[in-house]
Amino acid sequence: MTEAAAIPVAELNEDQAKAELARLASEIQDHNAAYYQNDDPAISDAEYDALCQRNSAIEGRFPNLKRPDSPSERIGAPSTDGADGFSKVRHSRPMLSLGNAFNEEDVVDFLAGIRRFLKLDDDAVVEIVAEPKIDGLSAALRYENGVFVQGATRGDGEVGEDITANLRTIDDIPKRFLGPAPDVFEVRGEVFMNHGAFAELNRKQDAAERPAYANPRNAAAGSLRQLDPAITASRQLSFRAYAWGEVSALPSHAQAGVLAAMKAWGFEVQEHQICRNTAEMLAYHSATEAGRSARPYDIDGIVYKVDRLDWQDRLGAASRSPRWAIAHKFAAEQAQTLVEGIDIQVGRTGKLTPVARLKPVTVGGVVVANATLHNQDYIAEKNIRVGAKVLVQRAGDVIPQVLEVVEPGPEAFVFPSTCPICGATAVRDEGEVDWRCGGGLTCEAQAVERLRHFVSRNAFDIEGLGEKQIKAFYDAHVVKTPVDIFILQAQDGKEGRKPLQEWEGWGETSVENLFEAIKEKRRIPLDRLIFALGIRHVGQGNAKLLARRYETLANFDAAMKPDNLEELLDIDGIGEKVAKALLAFFDDGHNKDVWDALTGMLDQVQDMARADTTSELAGKTLVFTGTLERTSRAEAKARAEALGAKVSGSVSAKTDLVIAGAAAGSKLKKAQALDVKVIDEAGWLVLINGEAVGGEIVSKEEETL
Ligand code: IVH
Repeated sequence: MTEAAAIPVAELNEDQAKAELARLASEIQDHNAAYYQNDDPAISDAEYDALCQRNSAIEGRFPNLKRPDSPSERIGAPSTDGADGFSKVRHSRPMLSLGNAFNEEDVVDFLAGIRRFLKLDDDAVVEIVAEPKIDGLSAALRYENGVFVQGATRGDGEVGEDITANLRTIDDIPKRFLGPAPDVFEVRGEVFMNHGAFAELNRKQDAAERPAYANPRNAAAGSLRQLDPAITASRQLSFRAYAWGEVSALPSHAQAGVLAAMKAWGFEVQEHQICRNTAEMLAYHSATEAGRSARPYDIDGIVYKVDRLDWQDRLGAASRSPRWAIAHKFAAEQAQTLVEGIDIQVGRTGKLTPVARLKPVTVGGVVVANATLHNQDYIAEKNIRVGAKVLVQRAGDVIPQVLEVVEPGPEAFVFPSTCPICGATAVRDEGEVDWRCGGGLTCEAQAVERLRHFVSRNAFDIEGLGEKQIKAFYDAHVVKTPVDIFILQAQDGKEGRKPLQEWEGWGETSVENLFEAIKEKRRIPLDRLIFALGIRHVGQGNAKLLARRYETLANFDAAMKPDNLEELLDIDGIGEKVAKALLAFFDDGHNKDVWDALTGMLDQVQDMARADTTSELAGKTLVFTGTLERTSRAEAKARAEALGAKVSGSVSAKTDLVIAGAAAGSKLKKAQALDVKVIDEAGWLVLINGEAVGGEIVSKEEETL
C-alpha cells in the first residue's frame, strides 16, 4: 500500500489504483473527521488538497474503480449524530466546497474552462468578483420574513448541525433584516476569530489550565460548538457574508449586487473587487497577499466568482464544488526563530531524520516548535546550526521547513554516526543522502517493521502470524526479535507471562496451530532466510543469487566477513551497494547476535544448490493432499521446492501432479476430474529418492540449539 502511494497516478496499474483509492478514501475520511468534527486537523490544507487531487486524478484514469464512498462525492465529515447535543439540519441547497488554484496557470484554466462551458468567445469579458478567502468555518443563516430563525454548520454539505443559539451571540449576525425582506433568505458566510480575540482566548485558556487552541480557525470552531451559548458569547466571533442558500427572491442578477443587498440588510459583507481579466485577478491576489499579515484575521487565498448569476446557474456544480468559483491559494507563510537543538528521529525503516527543535513561533496562525531538516546534506548546505536564527515556512506540508539561516549559529552540527535509539552504527550508502541505523534486527524504532517483514509471505511466511499479531506480540514485549518467535512456545506462560491462549482473540486451537506453523518454518530455504533479514537492497532476487552462490548456510555464514567484499562482488548480479549493505549488516554486533541465535534455532536450512534447473520437477506445480505417513507435509513441501517445484494448496487445470496420501478427499476427486496426474506417497518417495542430483535437505551438522 505504501508502495502504491509513491507511484505517480499516470503509472499506476489497476490493482494499485484500487488499493490507492481505498487508502485515500479512508485517509481523507479520517482527516475530515479530525477537521470537521474534532476541530483538530492533523495535516495542512495543502496536504489535504493534495490527497483529494490524487484521488480525483486516479478516478479520472480509472472511472470504473470509483468507490461508492469516494471522497470526491462528499464534502467534509457527517456531523456527529446529535449525541453531543446539536440536532441536525438538512440544507435545502447543499453547501459546496471550492476547487483550488495554486498558480497563474490554474487561474487561466479556470477562466478558459468557463468560456468553453458557456461557449463564449475568447475575448468575451467574464466579470469576476474576487474576495479574500477567510480561514474560518462556513455557516448558513435562515431568515424568514427578515427574521433570523435558524443557523447551521456546513456539516457534510448536506446535513449540518443546528447551532442557532450560538450564532445568535455573534454581533455581526443581525437578528432581523433592515428594511423590507424576501419571505425566505438564507445568508451564507464565514464565522471566524480575529487575532486579538484569539490571543485573549488562549490567555484565558492558559489561566484556567485548559489546552490552548492551535489556531484561530480551531478556536472559532471550538467556540461555535459549545453546548452553552454563554460560552460562545464570551468568545469574540465575527461573521462575513459572501453567499446564499435557499431564497424566495434574489435582489440582483449579479453576485456583487446580492452582496450589496446583504450589506444593506445589515450584514458585514466580505470585501471584494470586480476583475475583468486574469491580469486584474492576479494583481488583486498579489496585493491582498502582500497585505496579508497586516490583516487582523487569517485569510488563505482569494475566491474568484463569476459575477453574472445566470452564468452561475448555467455553470452549475461538479460533484464537490461549483464551476463558477475557485479558491486561489496563497503561498505558505514564513517566520523567523531560533534553532534550540537538533534531534535525530529514527523512522520505521531505520532512516535517521534530523529535526530542528525551534523556539516556538507562530507561522500562519499555527505555533511551530520543530521543523524537518531532511538529511545531513540539507543541514550542511544551509549551514543550519544549533543557536542559528532561521526562516521557517509552513508550506504544503504539515511539517514546517527551515528555508534559510538568517544569523549563523556557533558550531557546525556533527551528524551522529550511531543510532540514537539502539546505539548501532549508522551507515550512509554512497550516492544516498540518508543515514540509516544498522541495527536492523534489534533497533526498537524499526522492530515492528522488521518483524512484519520477517514473517511476510515471501520470507518466513508463518501462518497465523501476520502484521496484527506481530504488533500485539511486540507491544506485549513477547516478541522483540525474530529469535523470540522461535521460543514463543517454550516461553509461553513462563516468567509471569499470560499464556497465549488466554489472550484476547486466541484460543487453544489457534495457539496450537501457530506453534505448529512456527515449528514447520524451522526448515527454511536459504534464500528465504536471507531475504527475511530485511537487509537494505537485499530483496528476493538478490537473496536468491546469494543462496545459489553459497549453497549452504555454513558457506554463507562464513562469507559474511568484513574483508570479503571482493568475493561478493564476483557474484553475477551483486553490485557494490548490495555487497556493502550485506557486510555492514553482519558487521553489526547486534545483528550478528540475533543471526547466530536464529540460525542456531532452525532445524534445517535448505540448500539452494542446483535446485530448480535439473530436476524433472523443476517448474512443475504440485499439490499434496491427504495424510502422508512416512514424511511430514512440511518436509515433502520443502523437498518439492528444493527440486524447483511450486507447491500449491488447491488443484486446478494448471496443476501438474497431485500426491495423494491416505484418506485424500475432494482434491483427489478434482484432480481425477481434471485429468491431473496423481501418485501416492510411495510413488512420491521413489520420485524424489530416485532423483540423482537435486537440492537435498542439508542438516546443519555443527549447529545445535
Ligand atoms: S464561497 C459555493 N467565498 O472556503 C461556494 N467561500 O473552500 C461557497 N470561504 O466552505 C463558498 N471565504 O468556508 C466562499 N469569500 C469566500 C470565502 C469562502 C472563506 C470558505 C468557506 C467554504 C470554503 C471552501
